Amino acid sequence: MLIDRFGRLITYLRISVTDRCNMRCVYCMPAEGIPLQSHENILRYEEIVQIVRLAAEHGIREVRLTGGEPLVRLDLPILVHMIAQIPGIEDISLTTNGLLLEKVAQSLAEAGLKRVNISLDTLDSAKFERITRGGSLEKVLRGIEAAERVGLAPIKLNVVAMRGVNDDELIEMAKLTLQRPWHVRFIEMMPIQNQDSWGNGFPPPEEAYISVHEMRQLLFPLNLQPVNEKVGNGPAREYRIPGAKGIVGFISPIGEHFCQSCNRLRLTADGHLRPCLLSDLEIPVLQALRAGEDILPLLERAILIKPEGHELALNHSPMSRCMRQIGG
Ligand code: 5AD
Ligand code: SF4
Repeated sequence: MLIDRFGRLITYLRISVTDRCNMRCVYCMPAEGIPLQSHENILRYEEIVQIVRLAAEHGIREVRLTGGEPLVRLDLPILVHMIAQIPGIEDISLTTNGLLLEKVAQSLAEAGLKRVNISLDTLDSAKFERITRGGSLEKVLRGIEAAERVGLAPIKLNVVAMRGVNDDELIEMAKLTLQRPWHVRFIEMMPIQNQDSWGNGFPPPEEAYISVHEMRQLLFPLNLQPVNEKVGNGPAREYRIPGAKGIVGFISPIGEHFCQSCNRLRLTADGHLRPCLLSDLEIPVLQALRAGEDILPLLERAILIKPEGHELALNHSPMSRCMRQIGG
């Protein structure tokens, strides 16, 4: 089993399969993008599978695929299928921007994918284009429908709440749960290389942060009721609008630490084990793997250096990678 110095059992592996993305969300990366890894520095599917197999032998039960945008990687259903065959893996999910989901939802489900999280920061297509610098809301909505049709449930929609950007829509987005069994989760924006200016008529990034506390106040008219039974197993605090089919969640990486129950380990597309999203600590595994070395000691080392918590609240933020290069 993988147990860290603070007694946390690590059962959840988030795998970034690519650092590429077909959108340029303002809070994630600059308009011109950032330098990409060359293909030979990116883990091949066989190599990812090798790592997951080892991790599963040591207690990893759940895998989430992220990016960048994971669906820009060719033949992702093949990877899903390979991971689904690994003994011990009980759950495979995907975090996507949804742009390419419509076409591939069915084959992902057939390959063994269980669930998807889709980023959706606004219901206004012009604003969507500005936030994502070119993305199409209509395509994403079709992706969400397709995911629902093929049973990738529950559908979770991630909304990064931003003052002066989408704070006027939070109520409307929460109300999506009235008719649909979706989880709409409002996320505090993290200060991970958010650039100096977003352009597009948006306010300065440092003004955009909204705490979960304030989000709850904005949603006060909805009379949100706490959900007692734990529906999800992630960091979201869950509520329901009375009578609604779906769930409203809040994710607060800064205001309300969930570090003490963190069960996660991350694998970057360029083959680094990263024990904490918000710390620059990493263990490189790609070269050792290609040299045919035993990588169990590296896995154990990554667990050993997992920090107790992060220091975002103290205004320290990781500098070496932006969100797209970690995978969220
Ligand atoms: N703060 C909070 N969430 C972010 N995401 C990307 N960048 C940030 C940030 N700076 C979200 C995306 C996606 C998930 C992978 O992470 O919206 O839903
Ligand atoms: Fe791409 Fe996701 Fe970053 Fe948006 S937040 S640019 S969709 S990786």
